[in-house]
Amino acid sequence: MPEAQAQAPVAGTPSLAERYQATRALSEALCVPLSEADATLQSMPDASPAKWHLAHTTWFFETFLLRDRSPGYRLFDERWPFLFNSYYEAEGERIPRPRRGMLSRPSVAEIREWRAHVDEKMAPLLANPLHAPLVELGLAHEQQHQELLLTDIKHALFQNPLGPEMWALPAPVQRSANGPEWHEHPGGIALVGHQGDGFAFDNEGPGHRVLLEPFALAGRLVSNGEWEQFIVDGGYRTASLWLADGWDWVRRKRIDAPEYWYEGELFTHSGWQMRDPWSPVTHISYYEADAFATWAAARLPTEFEWEAIAQGHDPGSGNQLDGAGPPLPLGDTSLFGDCWQWTRSAYLPYPRFAPAGGAVGEYNGKFMSGQFVLRGASCATVRGHSRASYRNFFYPHQRWQFTGLRLAKDL
Ligand SMILES: [Fe+2]
Repeated sequence: MPEAQAQAPVAGTPSLAERYQATRALSEALCVPLSEADATLQSMPDASPAKWHLAHTTWFFETFLLRDRSPGYRLFDERWPFLFNSYYEAEGERIPRPRRGMLSRPSVAEIREWRAHVDEKMAPLLANPLHAPLVELGLAHEQQHQELLLTDIKHALFQNPLGPEMWALPAPVQRSANGPEWHEHPGGIALVGHQGDGFAFDNEGPGHRVLLEPFALAGRLVSNGEWEQFIVDGGYRTASLWLADGWDWVRRKRIDAPEYWYEGELFTHSGWQMRDPWSPVTHISYYEADAFATWAAARLPTEFEWEAIAQGHDPGSGNQLDGAGPPLPLGDTSLFGDCWQWTRSAYLPYPRFAPAGGAVGEYNGKFMSGQFVLRGASCATVRGHSRASYRNFFYPHQRWQFTGLRLAKDL
């Protein structure tokens, strides 16, 4: 099991039941602008239909809480686990991931009915502290899927030449320009990883020591304007800037700009918009981030360098998701928010890491192969979800998440 602990209620902080209700409600609110057809679209094997996210997060609670811990509970529909199990081998066969977009049924309305049914049956379990760690995991899991829902539907709507918009563009906000140009660190032994206080995913622990050389981490993310300079300077056509796998990817896929860029515009949840040169660049792959860093005579940070700096910062700060609305990187100086930040660290287990027993042990550990760690949070991450020890991870070619770049350099 992840290192989750039931916490004593503190006056003014929402109860587990209140947080459950809020998280479940947000998933549905994110889907309000979608038609039945929108919610059923799957634009690529990496992405899932919005409807599937609504169902899969419900499957998690029905399977691991209601079925396993609520004696006498009968499944809402015993055929549905085959449709909505994601990757849990211990839970048996499931529909292949690339075929999730074939699920014209059940309808969104039927899935909403299932959600309501599960929420009602969950009420007694939410009141029992014994179940709190697993409920916390279910809520953190649903928050992860809220971000995936947003990035998956963006990719799906992008396929439509009409450039559909989910929400109107919000009014521009003032950027906070304060903050250092670089965060300097003298190096030495640093304690990293989750320290056992509050919820964390199992991949964030155990806490352990690492040795850092003196380094500096940029005070802000790389911007669209800087990325345009990289393009003008022939960045996508200069083999010497690229890792071999990255150069192969650029040539094979004919990549010449971040995802969702077209001329001076970019595609957003508010349709096509003029690109702001001061906003952080997003939807870049690890390969692109690394090539840009090389071009800029810098490098990517390691995940531990990033964490050593972030430990002194508020993980609830920055541009993150506060409710249903269009996520858009804005360009503030918080370490958390706007875009996930690629690190040069391979996604590997920490010393003494051991996955939990049972099906939930499949949550993280089995993906520790061939992926890179991203740190921080994005404009599509629910505020409160991330923290300094949080490890996101993707394959180096993937870029449909809100992925960006914060440079680092040796001192
Ligand atoms: Fe999941």
